[in-house]
Amino acid sequence: VLAIWHQLTKAEIPELAKCSVLMRDRSRVEDTIYAMQRAGAGRLQVISDFDMTLTRFAHNGKRVPTTHNILDHRLLIDEDCSKKIRELLNTYYPIEIDAGRSAEDKLPLMVEWWTQVHELLIQQRIRKELLAQAVKESSTMLREGYKVFFDRLTEQQVPLLIFSAGVGDVLEEVIRQNNVFHPNVHIISNYMDFDQAGVLRAFQGQLIHTFNKREGALSHASGLRVLQGRPNVLLLGDSLGDLTMADGVSEHQNILTIGFLNDQMDERKELYVKSFDVVLVKDETMEVPNAILKYIT
Ligand code: TMP
Ligand code: MG
Repeated sequence: VLAIWHQLTKAEIPELAKCSVLMRDRSRVEDTIYAMQRAGAGRLQVISDFDMTLTRFAHNGKRVPTTHNILDHRLLIDEDCSKKIRELLNTYYPIEIDAGRSAEDKLPLMVEWWTQVHELLIQQRIRKELLAQAVKESSTMLREGYKVFFDRLTEQQVPLLIFSAGVGDVLEEVIRQNNVFHPNVHIISNYMDFDQAGVLRAFQGQLIHTFNKREGALSHASGLRVLQGRPNVLLLGDSLGDLTMADGVSEHQNILTIGFLNDQMDERKELYVKSFDVVLVKDETMEVPNAILKYIT
C-alpha cells in the first residue's frame, strides 16, 4: 500500500522531483503529505516565517530588503543611523547563518543585534504615517507565486500564521500593498509602539529574534483560537530557528517542515537536510509549497 501512495504523490506533485528539492527521507515526506491530504483543509494550519521565506532573498543579483532594512529610508532615519544599522548587519548576519555555531551560542548575540537596532530606530523618532511610503519606495518583493499561496489558503479557509522576528508594522504594510492581507492571516512579530502623535517610542512586548521563536510559539501562537483543532502543520522557514515556530501546537499530528536554503548553500546544506523535511535550494518561488497545498487542500 505504501508503494502506491508514493507513486500517487510523485505523480500528483511533480515539483518534488526537481533537483533543487532535497529530502532526507522522501517516503516520510510523501506519507506526511498523504496523511494531511486525507485529513483535509479543515485540519490544516500553515505557519510561516516572513523575511527571506515569504519575501525573496535576492532579485536580479541584488539582496531584497528585510522588514528592518525597509526602514533604512531617508524619510525615516538619518545617514548616521543608517550607517550604524548596516554595520550591525555586517557584524551579526554572518553569525546568524554560521553553520559552525550552535543556536545557544548565537542567542545572546542575536539579542544584542536586535536590541541595538531597535534602540537606534527609537532614537530616530520614526513617524507611523511615513511607513507606507517607505515600503512603497523599497525594493521588497514577495516570492514568485505568493498570490496563489495566499489566495488558496483564504479560499480553503486555512489559517496562515506569519511568525516573524522582523517588524510587524512593516510586514503588514508589505502584504497589504501586495493585496494579500486576507482575514485568515495572523501575525506574531515585533510591533512598534507609537505615542499619541504617531512617533515611535518603543517596541511592544517580548522581543522576538531568530532563535527565540519557541517562546513566542508557546506564549502567543498556542493561545490563538483559530488554530485550535488543526493538528496538521505546514511550516515554512529559512532559518533553523524557524523550526520551533510550531512548538505551541498542542496535539499535533502531522508536521511537514520546508526550509528555504538561500545563502551559504555548501556550508549549510547538510545541516538543513538533517533539520527540515524538505529543503529548497536557491529557489526564489513558492512553487513547491503551492504544489503541496494544491494536493492537500
Ligand atoms: P524573520 O523572522 O521574518 O525572518 O526576520 C528576521 C530576519 O531579519 C533575520 O534573518 C535577520 C534580519 N534582520 C535584518 O535584516 N536587519 C536587522 O537589523 C535585524 C535586527 C534583523
Ligand atoms: Mg527569515
